Amino acid sequence: MIPKLGSCYYPEHWSETQWEKDAKDMIESGLTWVRIGEFAWSRLEPEEGAQNFKWLDQAIEVLGNAGLNVVMSTPTAAPPRWVVDKWPDMLLVDSDGRSRKFGSRRHYCFSHQGYLQQSSRITRLVAKRYGKNPYIKAWQLDNEYGCHNTTLSFSTSSESSFKLWLSNKYKTIENLNESWSNVFWSMEYNSFEQIDLPNLTVTDANPIHELDFRRFSSEQVVKFNRAQVLIMREHTKMPLIHNYMGKITDFDHYEVGNDLDIASWDSYPLGFLEDRSTQNEDFKLKFMRFGDPDFQAFHHDLYRTVGRGRWWVMEQQPGPVNWAPYNPEPARGAVRLWSWEAIAHGAEVVSYFRWRQAPFAQEQMHAGLQRPDGESAPGLTQASQVNSELKEFDGIQQVQSKVAIIFDYESCWAWEIQPQGKDFSYFELVYEYYKALRSLGLSVDILPPNQKDLTGYKIVLAPGLMHFDTGLKVAIESFEGVLISGPRSGSKTLDMAIPKDLPPEVPGVVGTVASVESLRPNASILIKAGGSFNRWMETLVDCDNVIEECEDGRPALIGQTNRLYLTGWGNQEALTRIFRDACLSQNISTMDLPDCVRVRETHKHRFWFNYSEKETNVSSVSLPPSGVFWEPL
Ligand code: GAL
Repeated sequence: MIPKLGSCYYPEHWSETQWEKDAKDMIESGLTWVRIGEFAWSRLEPEEGAQNFKWLDQAIEVLGNAGLNVVMSTPTAAPPRWVVDKWPDMLLVDSDGRSRKFGSRRHYCFSHQGYLQQSSRITRLVAKRYGKNPYIKAWQLDNEYGCHNTTLSFSTSSESSFKLWLSNKYKTIENLNESWSNVFWSMEYNSFEQIDLPNLTVTDANPIHELDFRRFSSEQVVKFNRAQVLIMREHTKMPLIHNYMGKITDFDHYEVGNDLDIASWDSYPLGFLEDRSTQNEDFKLKFMRFGDPDFQAFHHDLYRTVGRGRWWVMEQQPGPVNWAPYNPEPARGAVRLWSWEAIAHGAEVVSYFRWRQAPFAQEQMHAGLQRPDGESAPGLTQASQVNSELKEFDGIQQVQSKVAIIFDYESCWAWEIQPQGKDFSYFELVYEYYKALRSLGLSVDILPPNQKDLTGYKIVLAPGLMHFDTGLKVAIESFEGVLISGPRSGSKTLDMAIPKDLPPEVPGVVGTVASVESLRPNASILIKAGGSFNRWMETLVDCDNVIEECEDGRPALIGQTNRLYLTGWGNQEALTRIFRDACLSQNISTMDLPDCVRVRETHKHRFWFNYSEKETNVSSVSLPPSGVFWEPL
């Protein structure tokens, strides 16, 4: 597979006399893909019954003629005003019961039947018109499901669909009362009709009520997407893609991905560092021009699995964004570095957002590959450089990594609902394990929680996985490598209760969680062998084997050599030490990388990345500022 580059383009933002030159410039800069149309609904259907597709026909013709492959989109992330006027209750409602207004985007509720019909109708229109257009080589459905906190909706449509969902799931109200243990606080119901959405309760709602609502809401996203997929498949043979976001975990991306052909995501390293990272201020200052060196990689690995091996970066940050609290310029060379990190992780296409900076509206302060006046911005030169460098390769193939980590959306929801400690975040827990692996120079695969086959892996990590799926349990039984779980792994039933046999319910691990405690931010429990536990600690008893202890005498790491359980939230020192030992036991070689250097191995190469404005030397490799270096394996 030879990776390609592209950009996001909005023909409706520019005079049609400009399109040809833009297309030509894209090709000359080395871009071969162009994504269009995802917010163009009001120009396609200015009012009910009035359609105008001529301009888009022509835009596609111009772009295609110039030699570009077009990604056409369904425009359902931005329904126009007349659609909202027709169905005012299609608007999303937040957990405080406030309806969101028209005037930006993603304002729809996934459960609204009227909107679902509109979404299907406009999808059918574009699918019929362009499904067989020779220039259109892929389709994007909607735009960033769940972004701007839009998965959960507390609307009346959502409520009635949820009641139906519950009655399908539990069949009788007695079953639901029992599964939810509604005897607690006299929460028993007499009928499904009585069940509200779990917002605006005086204090906590029943955690299983919330978890079921999260499961339901995730399924609504899957269904919404699937409705578009079914229509598209009738009209096109081209691959269907969605562009996911960073650190959005409110719906199960694996489930959405199963209906699509390719996963893609929108990678904004500096925006994410300022807006979504929980790293401390020193770290943010250090990486303000590069972003967190592991954040993009984590999502590349995640979405490679969501796309069952096929994935793109649909939107790559090209310069400062507009939406984070602070929006610095990327370091010189950072756009090239990000592009190569994506390519080394298997991206088939890296497409920059956007071709030209818009001088108007909400994103006028967001950089493009071109300035608003059409002159090149720094990102463009770097994209062209990547394109020239790609010519050295006759393809870049991925290989299965030796190390994998399980990432489960449902565990995200469970620990958000019942964190027990304010800062217990499942995403952060998995991410810190991932970071420790990367700091050892390892390439990592991310696996779904229902993975049925662990063949080929030597180490698999399952921190915080609330419940082990039957298929995964079977896979673990025959897995010869090292499984490292804990804390909080196998600690809940699917009904969000503590299992009868106390946790951890992890195959091969013998021990009992007698109690758990969450720790305030400046508290830590030292581990004798080095490092500490922060945030979370469990007291394990009846263990068949204690490998490491804490200074206070409690077990820190238990289990047999290839079935290990960590009893707390380890800091980076503890995690890297324990993972390094596990690698040693499996003959996996490791490195000790500085926090600004990362590596990734593909089939034939090892890629090195320097997320720093200083030259950095590691082993025999000298990396220039923002350096990317590759060597044959
Ligand atoms: C993405 C979105 C784009 C644009 C971009 C700005 O989240 O898909 O439409 O808004 O952010 O960074």
